[in-house]
Amino acid sequence: MSPKQKRMLQSLQGTVPDRPPFWLMRQAGRYLPEYRDVRKNSKNFLEFCYTPDLAVEVTLQPLRRYDMDAAIMFSDILVVPDGLGQKVEFLEGEGPVLEPIRSLDGIKKLEPNRVLDHLAPVFEAIKRLSKEIPKETALIGFAGAPWTVAVYMVEGRGGTRCETILDWAKQSPDDFQVMTDLLVETTATYLAEQVKNGAEIIQLFDSWAGVLDADEFQRWSIEPTKRIVERLRDSCPGVPVIGFPRGVGKFAERFVIGTGVDGISLDQDTPLDWIAETLQPKCTVQGNLDNQVLVAGGDALDKAVIDILKALSAGPFIFNLGHGVVPETPPEHVGRVAELVKNWPESSKGIG
Ligand code: CP3
Repeated sequence: MSPKQKRMLQSLQGTVPDRPPFWLMRQAGRYLPEYRDVRKNSKNFLEFCYTPDLAVEVTLQPLRRYDMDAAIMFSDILVVPDGLGQKVEFLEGEGPVLEPIRSLDGIKKLEPNRVLDHLAPVFEAIKRLSKEIPKETALIGFAGAPWTVAVYMVEGRGGTRCETILDWAKQSPDDFQVMTDLLVETTATYLAEQVKNGAEIIQLFDSWAGVLDADEFQRWSIEPTKRIVERLRDSCPGVPVIGFPRGVGKFAERFVIGTGVDGISLDQDTPLDWIAETLQPKCTVQGNLDNQVLVAGGDALDKAVIDILKALSAGPFIFNLGHGVVPETPPEHVGRVAELVKNWPESSKGIG
């Protein structure tokens, strides 16, 4: 590797490093026994996120085992609604529950001015991480994209079919635009502060983009993302942005063109040949191993990893999953992926 530059940054600048960089979404999490050990001491997930000692420790855990090319700061996308003053709770076995906001009045009660103060522990964790991670490792900061954060803020929980928010956005697009604008501003400010404290790359998670039709996707995912990218270009020149519009199929192409992101993270349903032909000439691509194949392991895992490397490693590419590591994943399967990617192309012999 060039001693001067991290593989992640090389890939995001459109070049091809000595081997593809890799990291995994949710690489820090419940599949790791050392994570569960730390986690069991704090009942409240948000407090855990807001304790820099703990956030730094669990961010470093996967790096110690697998030496990824990137560390993603440990936090959650729902710290933004929490910072805005909405009631957010993580219930054991149920995931996040929020007191839903469904009117202009509800939006007006939010307090964008308290976000940076409230999220100071996140910036502190980033500052420490940027000193503690190995010098070849890139530090990723992140936020939820406005649409996905709004889904939780309006629906009150994940796992719905987004009927309430889709209905609101259809019936009162001007009101929903107010909410989107507030999230664009807040998210851009929050991300710029992450960069100021040491984040070198930003990823925007739009996990619920897949429920939008073409026009809605343009207005509620592409436009807000584009505005955040523009704001970051101004406030943090040279910091690459990766977008993750999950579940959007071939709309990924208009996302790349319309938002100006440097990289796009693709889910496991996006065909490799289409990614290579259509997206990779336009931007860096990241993905897209099926997280269930990672759970299964064995020959199926080897073949899936090598298929991805064969299809995408000739161009700007970052190896990742199509969605986050799930808690039932055996840690040694992640080790196998690390081995295959780090030893590419030798590792392909006899596989696939
Ligand atoms: O990737 C990483 O390692 C960094 C940490 C990270 C977490 N959440 C930690 C977490 C990141 C990047 C996220 C993003 C996030 N959070 C998204 C976008 C990506 C995606 O998965 O679609 C979303 C939608 C959320 C909201 C969220 N947070 C849900 C739905 C849940 C519950 C589901 C579950 O797995 O329990 C969380 C909780 C959460 N965030 C956990 C972790 C490690 C598990 C909580 C625990 O330890 O008890």
